[in-house]
This record gives sequence, C-alpha cells and structure tokens, in this order.
Amino acid sequence: MGIIDQNHQNAEKLAAAKAAVKLVKNGDIVGLGTGTTATFAIKELGKLVAEGLNIKAVASSIRTEELAKSLGIEILNLGEISSVDISIDGADEFTEGLDLIKGGGGALFREKIVASMSKNAIIVTDASKKVKKLGSFTVPVEVIPLAYQYVFDQITKLNGKGKKRTTDHQDYFTDNGNLIIDADFGLIDDPKALSNDLNKIDGLLAHGLFIDLTAQVIMSEQSEIIIFK
Ligand code: A5P
Repeated sequence: MGIIDQNHQNAEKLAAAKAAVKLVKNGDIVGLGTGTTATFAIKELGKLVAEGLNIKAVASSIRTEELAKSLGIEILNLGEISSVDISIDGADEFTEGLDLIKGGGGALFREKIVASMSKNAIIVTDASKKVKKLGSFTVPVEVIPLAYQYVFDQITKLNGKGKKRTTDHQDYFTDNGNLIIDADFGLIDDPKALSNDLNKIDGLLAHGLFIDLTAQVIMSEQSEIIIFK
C-alpha cells in the first residue's frame, strides 16, 4: 500500500473511531479493542476523559491496557465484571450481515470475551474491510500449545490450510501464552457452520469468526460514515 493510500485509510479509521466514541456515555464500562483502528478510538476516548468524561474500561490486550492507562483511562479487571456497556473494536473483514473475521493482531480470545459481554458491540472500520464473503483474510485460531498438532489436523479435516503464525522467524505467542494457526478456508459460504465446527475442537481456545456478536459496524468511506446494523 502506498503512503497516500495509507493516509487515506488512516483518515477513514479515525473518522469511524470518532463516530463511535460519540456513543459512549458518562458512567459506562467501555470495552477497548485492539489494533490500529481501535487505537484511534482509544486515543479519542483519552481526550474525552481528559475533558471530564467519567468512564471505566476493560482491555482486550496488554498493549491496549498500557495505552489506555497512559491516557488516564481507568482499567478494570475483565475477570471481575459481569457486563460491558459498550465496546469498540476493529475487524479484519466484515459482511453486511455483521459476520466478522478478527484476530489479525492476535488478540481474538480476549476480544471475543469482551464482545460477548458487551451490550452494544461496535466495530469501527475503514472501507477496505467490507467483503461480500468472509475468507480472503485467513481465520486466526488460538490454540493451547500442547494441542497444536491435534488442532492443526482437525483444521485440515475441515478443509482448512493452516499455517503457524510466526514473528521474526519465531513462534508467535498470544497474551495468553498460546499459539496461533492462521487457517485458510477459502471464501466461506456458511461462517456460522464453520464457527460451530471449530468450536467443537478440543484444545482450540478461540477462533476469529465473530458471529452474532456485533450490534453495529461503523464504516467510514471517503468522507461518509455508513452504519450497518
Ligand atoms: C486484533 O486482534 C484484531 O482483531 C483487530 O481488531 C483487527 O485485526 C483489525 O485491526 P486493524 O484495525 O489494525 O486493521
């Protein structure tokens, strides 16, 4: 991607983030996503908090928690609360039916917990993330290390082509100390069925298909905000 395209994409991400934070109310517990688009939203929230907005938040990753704390946003322990009022996160792909692929940044497990707990799960994206069918982006699968080969083989049986995620030629580990398999299922005709099949695999902690977990997608395209819900 050229620098002009990247600037354009960042402008869209920022616009979507600004539209989403307007939905946050005083007193809310806010779920904070992970990734470049969520980061725009967290920084906007930080500005509002500095101006007096009173919120508490839960974070979907260690890096998000560190960013939020640096901006003066109070972070609660995710394991000690029962629900989140509103969450704001990005996505790698979404359809108009609000099915998503997430986890490009490796935070899918906590992101899924936050989305599941959220009364109003908002996804913020630039226009490049909208697809007719999910699957051009591989489905990230978080796997407990001792079940790695077993889960890999089960993915193969579901016609998925798995690839262990690495960073600098080393295994990539999630915040939870697990591995990621990026699984290519081709274009996915029935994301819900695939999600259900993946959910049955022992040792698979979470996968990046987010089905029935999203209240609305706020997408920015050029200078327009488009809402899918
Ligand atoms: C993080 O694990 C992901 O789910 C991100 O939300 C997703 O990859 C979108 O990231 P960007 O906003 O950086 O594109």
